[in-house]
Amino acid sequence: MIVLKTTRELGLMKEACVIAAGALKAAGEAVEPGVSTEEINRIAQNFIIKNGAIPTFKGYQGYPAAACISINDEVIHGIPSKKRIIKAGDIVSIDVGATFNGYVGDNAATFAAGDISPEAQRLCDTTRESLYEGIKAAVAGGRLGDIGSTIQRYCEERGFSVVREFTGHGVGKQMHEDPSVPNFGTPGRGVRLLPGMTIAIEPMINMGGAGIRQLPDGWTIKTRDGSLSAHFEHTIAITSNGPVILTKI
Ligand code: MF3
Ligand code: CO
Repeated sequence: MIVLKTTRELGLMKEACVIAAGALKAAGEAVEPGVSTEEINRIAQNFIIKNGAIPTFKGYQGYPAAACISINDEVIHGIPSKKRIIKAGDIVSIDVGATFNGYVGDNAATFAAGDISPEAQRLCDTTRESLYEGIKAAVAGGRLGDIGSTIQRYCEERGFSVVREFTGHGVGKQMHEDPSVPNFGTPGRGVRLLPGMTIAIEPMINMGGAGIRQLPDGWTIKTRDGSLSAHFEHTIAITSNGPVILTKI
């Protein structure tokens, strides 16, 4: 069931999203060679708590941290660890959510540690740009497939591949609500997009093949072929005035 939000609810949700965005920004600014992923997680978590919000991920299906931190060929859901030290040339994906006013804000971005290769930079740029293209396609009266097909075409045209097993999602009082928001699809297909829908759009894009595997830790998702992967996510609202990025500061 897709839950439509009133304008008032969007206002409440915006506050959660701004905290999530601030946590992502603070965590991203701390990415540099020599820093552990646990330290990055701590910065994100402290930001959330300092702002009176709850780290949404912590305890979600047993997840142990406030943020997911995934390096290089890790796609998503990397578990922070004090033993995991960021190196120069790494690309570091940070995903973090905050609950405030009873609503969830969810966002992610991939950050460069020191100088990264031109190919890694192109992967990150393309993934971020595909998110913004997907957001532009999230207009009331359109269809869900307009979003995914836009992201898919944008990335595949540039030689990258779209992870299929994980998708974006509706978001509101729950982190994961209907509908599922794939990063692939067919224009004009899928559910009708309506004002008041709030969704997280989150392309996970690989440099090599689209295949993934899960590590024995039960969380970390890596590319099957060891190629690099990038991840960007915003929580947005679909309104009669077009898409609004809620996780923007
Ligand atoms: N932010 C992720 C998503 O968009 C969820 C993280 S899973 C968790 O679906 F367990 F870490 F919360
Ligand atoms: Co999400």
